[in-house]
Amino acid sequence: MNTTVDQADFFRTLAEKSDAGSLRGDYSQADEHYVVWQDCAAYTSQQHALWRRLYQRQARLLPGRACDIFIDSLARLDAADTIPDLERASDALDKATGWRLVAVPGLIPDLSFFQHLANRRFPVTVWLREPEEFDYIVEPDIFHDFFGHVPLLFNPVFADHLQEYGKGGLKALELDALPYLARLYWYTVEFGLMQTEQGLRAYGAGILSSGGEIEYCLRSPTPRRIAFNVERVLRTLYKIDSYQESYFVIRDFRQLFDDIAIDFAPLYARVKTLEPLPADAQLPGEINIAPHNAAPCIERGSRLC
Ligand SMILES: [Fe+2]
Repeated sequence: MNTTVDQADFFRTLAEKSDAGSLRGDYSQADEHYVVWQDCAAYTSQQHALWRRLYQRQARLLPGRACDIFIDSLARLDAADTIPDLERASDALDKATGWRLVAVPGLIPDLSFFQHLANRRFPVTVWLREPEEFDYIVEPDIFHDFFGHVPLLFNPVFADHLQEYGKGGLKALELDALPYLARLYWYTVEFGLMQTEQGLRAYGAGILSSGGEIEYCLRSPTPRRIAFNVERVLRTLYKIDSYQESYFVIRDFRQLFDDIAIDFAPLYARVKTLEPLPADAQLPGEINIAPHNAAPCIERGSRLC
C-alpha cells in the first residue's frame, strides 16, 4: 500500500487512541481502498464458538429493545452459528438493497470510508475479538460491524440514508467539517434510538452489539433522551469510553433520511460559530423522554426487567 501523508496521519492518530499503541489489523495486504481478502478458512473452531456465544447473548437481548426492522433483518442473515462469509452475506444484501460488504483490516481513513458508503459498500472488519474482550472492545471487530451494522442495510430507507451520509462525508471533508458530521454518525448510526408504537427501541449498532448499553439506553434514568434535531446533534460532543450521556430519538428512518437530505454547508457555517455542547447538555425547553418501562421484556417466558 502506498503511504501518503494523510494515511500516515491516520495511523498515527489511531495508534495514539488505541490501547496497545497500534491498530490490531493487518494492513499490509490491503489495497488502495483498504479492502482485504477475508480468509474464512483461517478462523478457528474456538473463534466460531466465541462468535456463537456473542451472537446468542446479544440475540436474546433484542426482543423489546431493538427495533423490529433490525430483528427481522438479522434473521435473514443466517449468521448465528459461524463467523459470516462476507461474500455470501453480500449476495443476499445485494438482492435486497444493492449494498455489498467489503472486508477491511479494521478502522480505515475517513476518505476511504465515505467512498465505500457513497458507493453502497459497507466496510466490515475481518478479525474477531479475544474471549477476554467478550463484553467490551476498543476497536470495532467483525461482531460489532456485522451484527450491529449489517441488518439495517436490508431496509431500503436506511440503506439510502447511509449512502447519502457517505456522500455527505465526502463534502464534509472538503468543507473541513468532519468533526460535526462524525457526531451525526455517532448519535444515529451508532447510538440512535427510535420511538415506535411499542415504545422506545434501539437501532444504533454501538447499542445493539453491546451487552450492557442495550439495557442502559432504554431503561436507565441517568441519560438524556432527546428528540432528534440535526443542528443539536452536530453541536453535541460525545464520549467514546463510557455509556452515552445523551441519546437522540427519531420517529422512523424516513425522518432520518429527510432530515439529512439538505445542504449542510450553511449549517456547518452556523455551527462553527457556536460553542460545542457537552455530551450531557440539556437545553431550555428540551423535553427529556422518559426511560422505557412500559413494555415488559419477555424472554423465555419470564420477565427480565
Ligand atoms: Fe460501528
